[in-house]
Amino acid sequence: MFDLAGDDAISFGLGEPDFQPPKIAIDTFHQAMLDGHNKYTTTAGLPALREKIARSWDDYQNGMSEANVCITMSGTNALLNLFLTLVNPGENVLLPEPYFPLYGPDVTICGGEDRYYPCKFENEFIPKVEDLEKLVDENTVAILYNFPSNPTGGTLNHTQRDELLDFAIKNDLWIISDEVYDRIVFEGSHVSFMGVDYNKVLIVNSFSKTFAMTGWRIGYIISSNLEAMSQITKMQYYITACSNDAMQYAVLAAMEEASDYPEIIAKEFKERCDLIVDRLNQMPGVECHKPKGAIYVFPKVHVDGMSSEEIALELLKDGVLCSPGSAFGPSGEGHLRFAYTISKDDISLGMDKVEATLKRLNGL
Ligand SMILES: Cc1ncc(COP(=O)(O)O)c(C=O)c1O
Repeated sequence: MFDLAGDDAISFGLGEPDFQPPKIAIDTFHQAMLDGHNKYTTTAGLPALREKIARSWDDYQNGMSEANVCITMSGTNALLNLFLTLVNPGENVLLPEPYFPLYGPDVTICGGEDRYYPCKFENEFIPKVEDLEKLVDENTVAILYNFPSNPTGGTLNHTQRDELLDFAIKNDLWIISDEVYDRIVFEGSHVSFMGVDYNKVLIVNSFSKTFAMTGWRIGYIISSNLEAMSQITKMQYYITACSNDAMQYAVLAAMEEASDYPEIIAKEFKERCDLIVDRLNQMPGVECHKPKGAIYVFPKVHVDGMSSEEIALELLKDGVLCSPGSAFGPSGEGHLRFAYTISKDDISLGMDKVEATLKRLNGL
């Protein structure tokens, strides 16, 4: 889609915030390099940053310290680390579908089997335990949850979280909870798997989305399980030895001096979300939930006889780039994903084009 798009296409394609990191982070990064922080750090990362991260979870789980945190070079790195740590050949992992496309290949790289549980539109993209039960067997080692979700925008309430937790406990599974959108939530506060009464919970997080640092490549793993953290840190040593020295000072500065930055961008994302959902729901053949977090909408878009890829290609011809739902797994068919990572003016302009294309395709 990117290759086919013209330079002037309005792009709802990229899952990355259209903001820059807080200025204090950029300045500190620069200064840290000038100050000589250009060396290896300890594998788990700068103690002060890890301590700060541990404190940032106090509302969920008290008493964690730097020992509970391993800095990684992105959420992507954190995910691969966890799969490499947990999965042996012949074992399987339960993954959401529609999905963030790296999960399955990561499990395959480890010699494991990727098994997908459905997150259906009619259930607001929250999985049902009965569907999970059909997939689990004696070789299942872990289940991955991703809320707020890419691509669906699905978020959990506490009851749903507890049901998913009980399923994992009953089957003695590790929970890998990908919470990289934890601070981009629009209603109430984020519902996390951190702080639950179960010691097989591993949280993946990242500064990519919440501090608009996608290109910096920095994230972390946190868990109250110290034995797990020691194995995870060992694995991190084999993967990258450590993360980027100067950048860790920059992230620490962002957390200390621009701590409200994620909430500022979340407010803007909420306004965009409201705008795009209202527009989409007025279009022929479109049904769209209003997500409570992340930076995506995943509407059902129906045009007789056309696949989601064909619809996306028609939209592209008319100057709008979005992702066909089928790129996120078979049940994404019939959907399109729009990332609202562009200005409200561009969203409005893009939605005018989408509406015109869908009217044309529906013969209206
Ligand atoms: C659900 C989810 N997890 C993890 C990532 C990885 O983020 P990063 O590697 O930039 O930290 C992304 C990026 O789009 C994502 O959407």
